[in-house]
Amino acid sequence: MKSSFYITTPLYYVNDKPHLGTAYATIMTDVLARYHRLFGEDVYFLTGTDEHGQKCQQAAEKNGLTPQQHCDQMVVNFEKAWSDLNITYDIFYRTTNPAHIKAVQKSLQQLFDVGDIYSDTYEGWYSVSEEIFYTEKDLVDGKSPTGREVTRVQEKNYFFKMSKYQQALIDHIEKNPTFIMPEAKKNEVLGFLRQPLSDLCISRPKARLSWGIEIPFDKDYVTYVWFDALLNYATAVGYQDPARQKDFEHWWNQTGAVHIIGKDILTTHAVYWSTMLLGLGVRLPKTIFAHGWILNKASEKMSKSFGDVVNPMDMKDKVGVDALRYYLAREIHFGNDAPFTVDLLLNRINTELANNLGNLWSRSSQLVEKFFEGRIPSIEMTDVENEPLAKHAVATAEKLKTDINNFQPSHGIEHVVLLLNEANKYLEEKAPWKLAKTSLEEAGVVLRLVLEVVRISSILLEPTMPMKMAELQKRMALPESANKWHEAQTLLGLITGSSIQKGEPLFPRYE
Ligand code: MSP
Repeated sequence: MKSSFYITTPLYYVNDKPHLGTAYATIMTDVLARYHRLFGEDVYFLTGTDEHGQKCQQAAEKNGLTPQQHCDQMVVNFEKAWSDLNITYDIFYRTTNPAHIKAVQKSLQQLFDVGDIYSDTYEGWYSVSEEIFYTEKDLVDGKSPTGREVTRVQEKNYFFKMSKYQQALIDHIEKNPTFIMPEAKKNEVLGFLRQPLSDLCISRPKARLSWGIEIPFDKDYVTYVWFDALLNYATAVGYQDPARQKDFEHWWNQTGAVHIIGKDILTTHAVYWSTMLLGLGVRLPKTIFAHGWILNKASEKMSKSFGDVVNPMDMKDKVGVDALRYYLAREIHFGNDAPFTVDLLLNRINTELANNLGNLWSRSSQLVEKFFEGRIPSIEMTDVENEPLAKHAVATAEKLKTDINNFQPSHGIEHVVLLLNEANKYLEEKAPWKLAKTSLEEAGVVLRLVLEVVRISSILLEPTMPMKMAELQKRMALPESANKWHEAQTLLGLITGSSIQKGEPLFPRYE
């Protein structure tokens, strides 16, 4: 049976416009989703928007709109950005959709009925921008630990018994080494869980905030935006919907969710979400992977609140969407923070795309045009099977797959870069332009092997650079294949005698 893979991005706050930081999470999730499709897996890719909460209500009021109108207007920014960045999501999920609202209410009721939700008076500090409560001891210089304004609140609220599941969560993390990744983040969460866990305030009085999902057992309250938003990952695949039990069984229970998130929302996912699921008696996600931040010039997290954000569309217009995707997937070790500067971007494009891959293609295709009338020269397996380059070429796919499965796309891509380096060296050493003078056949074999390396590389880089690699395959006259993953591990895949087109440089070089 075909194996399946369920991957999610966070649901973005609808009132921010996408910037390079949020685009990063989405592009990386898309790169991973496309690799898993290439491996032949049945992939379900979810993204969407987090639409309830105080920030949204305030922004709508400011613009003289209802919150729903405001969301409907803002959501277009995301749909447009993801389409421009070639994001292949299967579902764009909005937390204001009726099926989600119903499922969240059912979940609240279920936890209330078993006694995992209780009411109490809450007194403490609240950060509107983060929608998080803080206790006195959490505050740093009178602000939230991340430097946001807080206000004092005292009110009756409902609480979820998070503390009840603390030990079960610790056990689960310890027994499942790939539940929280990377390793350092897993240890951070375990460190956090060494302190006693408090219960989670999951309600907001309507008097203060009406834009949210009404609590079914107390109409004066809506639920906390995180309680609502986190449930999306399960409700989107049919949780609490009797008509979609099969979907839920397949995607949630059997496949298991992989959540790609930024490290700033690790606690909400690893602790809030996991204990909610334990309370509901539902399987925990397969993996929660926390990536690092794209940093701005001042080496802070790039974010609208700090100004100084890079618009991904400007970068896309400058270098093209594929080069931008390549840079993010290749330059940054997934999990680490990384600065973003145009110099770094252009440097990576020049060295690996223009000089390495682009150059290999332009030189080899030019020689094929010169000596073979632009037709792919013939080859016999016996001509090349002992060449180290040939062995290297067919072994690259599996190495890349191992790294992708470990959430290390930068390492996975590096295997292809090393292969292309070797092919460039091979071309230089074999000098088919000289060979052609004595043996056209031998020159043909060298060029054919190089072209096969370009073909294999184009398949292995396609999830990162879908448009450019499709273009390259077209220039190589590569027929459509039903099983590209198999083709990537097969040395000979081009069609002898078919006409190739060198074309314009695939990746222009930048000064
Ligand atoms: N709405 C919540 C998530 C709810 S998920 C059930 C939220 N939204 S967000 O729009 O503020 O952030 C979404 C994601 O973008 C987070 O994973 C965050 O880490 C990521 N990024 C925002 N700025 C970023 C960078 N500068 N760099 C990398 N990712 C960053 O949180």
